Amino acid sequence: MKGLILSGGKGTRLRPFTYTGAKQLVPVANKPVLFYAIEDLVEADIRDIAIVISPETGEQVKQAVGDGARFGARVEYIVQDAPRGIAHGIKIAQPFIGADKFVLFLGDNFIRDGIVPQVDAFRNGTMNAQIILYKLDDPSSMGVAVLDGDGRVTRLVEKPQQFISPYAVIGIYMFDAHVFEAVNAIKPSARGELEITDTIQYLIDRDLNVRAHLLSGWWIDTGKMSDILEANRLVLDILQPRIEGQVDTASRIEGRVVIEKEAHIVNSTIRGPAIIGERTRVENAFVGPYTSIYHDCLIRQCEIEHSVVLEHSHIENLSRRLADSLVGRHADIARAGGHTQTLKMMIGDYSQVGI
Ligand code: TTP
Repeated sequence: MKGLILSGGKGTRLRPFTYTGAKQLVPVANKPVLFYAIEDLVEADIRDIAIVISPETGEQVKQAVGDGARFGARVEYIVQDAPRGIAHGIKIAQPFIGADKFVLFLGDNFIRDGIVPQVDAFRNGTMNAQIILYKLDDPSSMGVAVLDGDGRVTRLVEKPQQFISPYAVIGIYMFDAHVFEAVNAIKPSARGELEITDTIQYLIDRDLNVRAHLLSGWWIDTGKMSDILEANRLVLDILQPRIEGQVDTASRIEGRVVIEKEAHIVNSTIRGPAIIGERTRVENAFVGPYTSIYHDCLIRQCEIEHSVVLEHSHIENLSRRLADSLVGRHADIARAGGHTQTLKMMIGDYSQVGI
């Protein structure tokens, strides 16, 4: 089997990050979300992988993943000229997939338990497609699947107005070559995209064997900030503690903490679960639970908790604790000089600040 990961898209829900960066590279516990998808595929012994990228952020994705050797995979790239839909991503991957069965993995989807049993069942079975479902009390903002008593999918409805089933369709799918007939036949939807829901419904309507696997561990679509913080929390909770950087004797490390290579902790407290990235310096500071500070940051004279900070950012001299925040790359947060009641900011388009 082959793997196809979609890592283009518009990323409107994660602006301003997605103006300059690929959302699939936002780190969860200091590892880009996309890397977890690649690792899930490799764990299921899928090593021929293509990643669909956009002209805007594709180079970053290529830089981060390379040829896939470090994952034990062979990775190639397919440029999608514009975000024309998930099914369009399948369509342009036909030359790469050929006649093989494959897994389609949306590059911002994140699950705990991997995909080994589902892939094995699909590889060895007679299904034409397999979708993965996640049970929700209110799945009305997602594609929803209706099943017969036998696990066969009978209908898919995008964002149903009325409750038809608790089973939301998540961003991991398995197909055989019949899917190309579908993506070449369907027409763009009202929002101008080739829809994955229409693709699967096409297969169901032709009586092909479309089945569902119900996920038991958690699943997160990391397409918006609250979900990234949640994914970060869940992963930090199961991370193996390790200290590879330097911690001076005036500092305290409490609970489940990872200090990565060449990080420096000086006169500070790190209370886990937390991770401090490579070459990051934490000085006279408190880093509280559920915080990930990525590589090459400076955290000085401040308190921060339940937050994700991306690479090369500086946070200094704050009089209040920073919490529940996602801080982008090369950001600078510091107390302004002068009048203590003033706030001084340079905030990018679509930023959100809570004061
Ligand atoms: P979505 O999150 O559904 O769409 P999006 O990336 O445009 O984001 P938003 O809704 O915030 O505007 O996409 C799921 C995944 O598929 C994500 O990793 C991006 C990718 N994708 C493509 O590669 N090409 C596409 O045409 C689309 C729609 C998505």
